[in-house]
Amino acid sequence: MDSGIARPLISREEITARTAEMAAEITRDYLDRELVMVGVLKGAFVFLADLARQVELPVEIDFVAVSSYGADTESSGVVKIVKDLDLEIEGKDVLLVEDIVDTGLTLKYLTGMLRERGPSSVEVCALLNKPDARKVDIEVRYCGFDVPPLFVVGYGLDYAERYRQLPYVGVLQEKEGSSGTS
Ligand code: IMP
Ligand code: MG
Repeated sequence: MDSGIARPLISREEITARTAEMAAEITRDYLDRELVMVGVLKGAFVFLADLARQVELPVEIDFVAVSSYGADTESSGVVKIVKDLDLEIEGKDVLLVEDIVDTGLTLKYLTGMLRERGPSSVEVCALLNKPDARKVDIEVRYCGFDVPPLFVVGYGLDYAERYRQLPYVGVLQEKEGSSGTS
């Protein structure tokens, strides 16, 4: 086991298989539409790269960055845009791609902000979902895996900027036994 990781939670193989299923679903749903996939930096960069390469449609790709939790694992509830979209999304079909939905605050804010720009649609695709940690209601149209309210890292997700490059999702050692992020 990699140092700092208590145990693996979702293997590389499981992620690969589920990502292919999600990409197939997106390919079916967005046929004849104007798909813009928007990754939420930094956590979604790995998932978006794997997902987008399996969507068999013309697709535009962009990123937004929001203020993160810093070096801690607690949700501050504060969401600030650090990097906005480069693309215009008016009349387009936006698919927000996230690493994990925890309290839902980030996506609540982002979907609201993007809807004000007149896109045809805004949907959410998240690799991971922590339903027990939700504070605000948010619809996750495409969800990879539900996970328990533990702090997880790997496959893009970090703790204090570490572990993003791990090819699997694991439970962080120092958070194991705590209630996670909420
Ligand atoms: P939310 O606004 O509480 O839904 O938080 C979503 C963001 O918090 C995600 O995009 C992650 O960056 C971060 N986050 C939440 N839970 C975890 C976790 O278990 N590991 C790593 N990052 C997390
Ligand atoms: Mg994130």
